[in-house]
Amino acid sequence: MSERSDLQGRRIVLGLTGGIACYKSAELVRLLTKAGATVQVVMTEAAEAFITPVTMQALSGRAVVTSQWDAREPNNMAHINLGREADAVMVAPASADFIAKLAQGRADELLSLLCLARPRERCPLLVAPAMNREMWSHPATQRNVATLAQDGTLILGPGCGDQACGEVGDGRMLEPTELLDELIAFFQPKVLAGRRLLITAGPTFEPIDPVRGITNHSSGKMGFALARAAVEAGADVTLVAGPVHLSTPRGVKRQNVMTAAQMYDAVVPCAADHDVFIATAAVADWRPASLSEHKIKKEGKKVAPTFELTENPDILAAVAALPKPPYCVGFAAESENLLAHARAKLLRKRIPLIIGNLGPATFGRDDNALLVVDAQSDHALPADGRPTDKLTLARALMQELANRLQAVQA
Ligand code: C5P
Repeated sequence: MSERSDLQGRRIVLGLTGGIACYKSAELVRLLTKAGATVQVVMTEAAEAFITPVTMQALSGRAVVTSQWDAREPNNMAHINLGREADAVMVAPASADFIAKLAQGRADELLSLLCLARPRERCPLLVAPAMNREMWSHPATQRNVATLAQDGTLILGPGCGDQACGEVGDGRMLEPTELLDELIAFFQPKVLAGRRLLITAGPTFEPIDPVRGITNHSSGKMGFALARAAVEAGADVTLVAGPVHLSTPRGVKRQNVMTAAQMYDAVVPCAADHDVFIATAAVADWRPASLSEHKIKKEGKKVAPTFELTENPDILAAVAALPKPPYCVGFAAESENLLAHARAKLLRKRIPLIIGNLGPATFGRDDNALLVVDAQSDHALPADGRPTDKLTLARALMQELANRLQAVQA
């Protein structure tokens, strides 16, 4: 599989303030550097009570800066230099006190000073609050957070759950993987801002009896990658998922279904409220005509049972036939003659775009190679036809979709 480096070349200042969540920032540095970023850690005095600069230096590979008066800076202007050299400043954890300081524009130590001094138009500030739930819900904190948001700061979280103080509620810092994903998403172009996307993913499961059923090898990875890429591109995304073992991408609304009929019911009534429908799911074409109430037993039977099958509704065709359909995108998983089959499907389902891929080469895998087919043309994605990871492909498809939506509206 090809390794993605989503933050390659990005220079991030990671600020730590006083909070037990500082231990998670160690892991965050590791994830950021693994994703290709250069991480410059800045710590307040309170942060040093929770984790040492030695740990953060070892993980980031750079000396941690803790003081405005750091004599290593030739011009002695750490607060100016750090902001000038960064593509973004992320404060994680951000304590209630630090948020209050930012809201007031105070600058009595290095981290708040550099947040104030950074060139705002090209160096955004992202803040991940971490505090006890009472502190978080206090009107003063809420006022301060609202002020930061108004000033253009992106507030990440907080999450909800167990707190170090023994309480349960809002105020936990987001997990390092969530903060990583937020930062990666932040840098993606917002080509689908304001658009509503509906996506199906995974297989369906058509029960024969209470313990058996008909399904297929679809893992849902392509549909989930599309949902993530769509959120990253600024869209509002609903994902209707068959039975898969995948976690929901941040910001995606997910509805789980089992059968094709359930998927139909989840999709068709609300499809017209969306700008785009992407049918990634490998929907079972047939289901057993009747469902046995109890497990079909082997004992005492001389011949194997036979099942009558009945056809499932075609969800994509039904959406495409709506009076005001969203822009419909189908997927064609074939084992041969990809282009011919994809074109035939395009016509049969009366849709503007179909994405072809070779089923056996993609089911369950992290990478894929696609063929983008419309009524007039076709092209490979990626252009060289070599398998690429599904998220990279999904991002390219979002750009493709954005262009097509614009062309349709023009
Ligand atoms: O009909 P066929 O399975 O060849 O077409 C595949 C495309 O149609 C996929 O986009 C799939 O999600 C969609 N489909 C559907 N409902 C079905 C069968 C397929 O939405 N019952």
